[in-house]
Amino acid sequence: MAEIATKKRILSGMRPTGKLHLGHLTGALENWVTLQDDYDSYHFVADYHTLTTSLDTADVYENTIEMVMDWLAAGIDPEKSPIFRQSQVKEHTELHLILSMLITKNRLERNPSIKDQVRDLNIENITYGHLGYPVLQAADILMYRANLVPVGEDQLSHVEISREISRSFNNTWGEVFPVPEPKLTSFARLPGLDGIDKKMSKSMGNTVLLSDGPDEVWGKLRKAVTDPQKVRKNDPGRPDVCLVFTYHKKFNPNELDEIRTGCESGDLGCVDCKKKCSAAIDTTLAPHIERRAEYEQDVSRVVDILHQGEEQARKAAGETMGMVREAMKMG
Ligand code: TRP
Repeated sequence: MAEIATKKRILSGMRPTGKLHLGHLTGALENWVTLQDDYDSYHFVADYHTLTTSLDTADVYENTIEMVMDWLAAGIDPEKSPIFRQSQVKEHTELHLILSMLITKNRLERNPSIKDQVRDLNIENITYGHLGYPVLQAADILMYRANLVPVGEDQLSHVEISREISRSFNNTWGEVFPVPEPKLTSFARLPGLDGIDKKMSKSMGNTVLLSDGPDEVWGKLRKAVTDPQKVRKNDPGRPDVCLVFTYHKKFNPNELDEIRTGCESGDLGCVDCKKKCSAAIDTTLAPHIERRAEYEQDVSRVVDILHQGEEQARKAAGETMGMVREAMKMG
């Protein structure tokens, strides 16, 4: 009898932060696009997760549409992999409740990303929901019985909690969930325009957006921080401490040797180096911007894609919840 090959599953998601930037592309999105051929992929908008840090929901819908347009423009194919909003699949909240019984408050308080957030955002009294951020994330991942979760480095501690919760469920009620593996990209961390040690992030205002045209890209790169020791044009520079060189590595591999030599010898000044970098980024972004424009002209297509994805996601989620209830004898 012919064996039916079942593909492994991937679940990936982002909080809806609006238009995406180069860091999203190199840290996650590129990975999503390549993996969608070999895995059953589910891509979702973690809209409930935004409530953990802000109760202002006024922009969530618009930010969702902007972000999903970037996913589609980057090459996520909704025919292969459903795209949906977490808030439209009720099963997420249901599984979240059940999983919340399998992890202690203490364990969640030890989660390093929560500790960082509490410090950075000056939170005096964390809400129950915010502390449970990784539990909701576990519900997202386990809902689709995902084997693999493509994430940036900052998400590793969350995926670890999902793994613990998965084992705990299986030990308590019976084998339902795979133990999900995180999958990092090779460029998991792209520096922002303000320094090689800073991560590109919307909240830091140091981004190049995937939707930025040549003038915008140049306007931003022009001001990017370079090697502080290269003060004058012909001073020798150190490419390895320069964030612009990091961008060249990613977006301009063909000219890399030449740029390194030119920078180190002092022949290549920062302005010219940045012009080359800006042009290379434009070349990468041009097809993205073109595809994005098609969706911008007809946003209803994006909405339809979400609705279709949500229908498919509900079906998959319903199957998992059936298995969960059966295992728990609450069917
Ligand atoms: N925490 C993720 C982020 O901030 C978003 C997210 C929520 C997620 N649930 C997930 C990512 C499940 C992967 C899988 O980017």
